Amino acid sequence: MLEKWLKESSYTIVFTGAGMSTESGLPDFRSAKSGLWRTKNPQQLASTYAMQHNRDEFIAFYQYRIRTLLKCKPHVGHMILADWQKRGLIHQIITQNVDGFHQQAGSTNVIELHGTLRTVHCSRCRRTYDAKRYVDEQFTCTCGGFLRPSVVLFGESLPYDAFEQAWTAAERADLWIVLGSSLQVSPANELPVIAKRSGGKLVIVNMEPTPLDDWADLLIHGRKIGEVLQEIDELL
Ligand code: NAD
Ligand code: APR
Repeated sequence: MLEKWLKESSYTIVFTGAGMSTESGLPDFRSAKSGLWRTKNPQQLASTYAMQHNRDEFIAFYQYRIRTLLKCKPHVGHMILADWQKRGLIHQIITQNVDGFHQQAGSTNVIELHGTLRTVHCSRCRRTYDAKRYVDEQFTCTCGGFLRPSVVLFGESLPYDAFEQAWTAAERADLWIVLGSSLQVSPANELPVIAKRSGGKLVIVNMEPTPLDDWADLLIHGRKIGEVLQEIDELL
């Protein structure tokens, strides 16, 4: 069914969450078994509060995260999505992920709602550096300001332009495909509802149930995204 909709649709958006990257080796957050927030407190590690008042743990946390990211790479699912964009089967990818794997796989014009872990920037002058600086124990800008990861922390709002473009895409999409998100974090989780309310079809591919399952025209639970995308690709 999904391969038919992909061929018929004129404006397909793929919306990804951390579940898109678990097969690359990056942990997600809310998976029952391995979700990071099952064992860690995001407010203590990935929030504006942590950056101000828990700085040593905040830095260690992102050093670990950046080291992990640098050891991982896009998997076959990322490659398939890049190929589908080149073939005109999907218009754009909107992601909650910060790993940059969609771009590394060749996808273009990717909207990153939660920023990127590929760079750090100065809290004072906003100068941007490669995130490798954190691995090299360099946390201070040439201006003397503190260097922080360029991700959206808990307590921060999403980049305005990114979210506005995503909202417009949701209003326009005739097919919205969610891959690997628990759809529990707003405002990103409002986008599939906007797409549905604007007359688009909603597809959710996620290992576990989500709060938006009742809105979906097609649900695929209990299966790995990589396998699902390979199967559909063979039918296109
Ligand atoms: P985070 O708070 O979102 O993720 C929790 C992190 O705890 C994990 O990434 C894990 O690597 C880290 N960690 C620190 N010490 C650890 C230890 N000793 N053992 C195991 N894990 C340890 O922080 P983040 O990953 O920097 O995320 C910033 C943004 O990145 C978040 O807003 C989130 O949306 C996003 N994110 C993206 C991906 C992805 O791009 N695939 C995956 C996870 C998180
Ligand atoms: N195939 C299919 N589904 C998967 C796979 C996989 N290989 N791996 C994990 N999943 C599913 C999990 O069952 C889970 O429901 O992906 C979902 C990932 O959900 P979350 O861990 O909540 O990640 P996400 O939805 O991206 O979180 C949103 O929350 O922590 C903040 O800013 C962070 O961007 C993140 C936001």
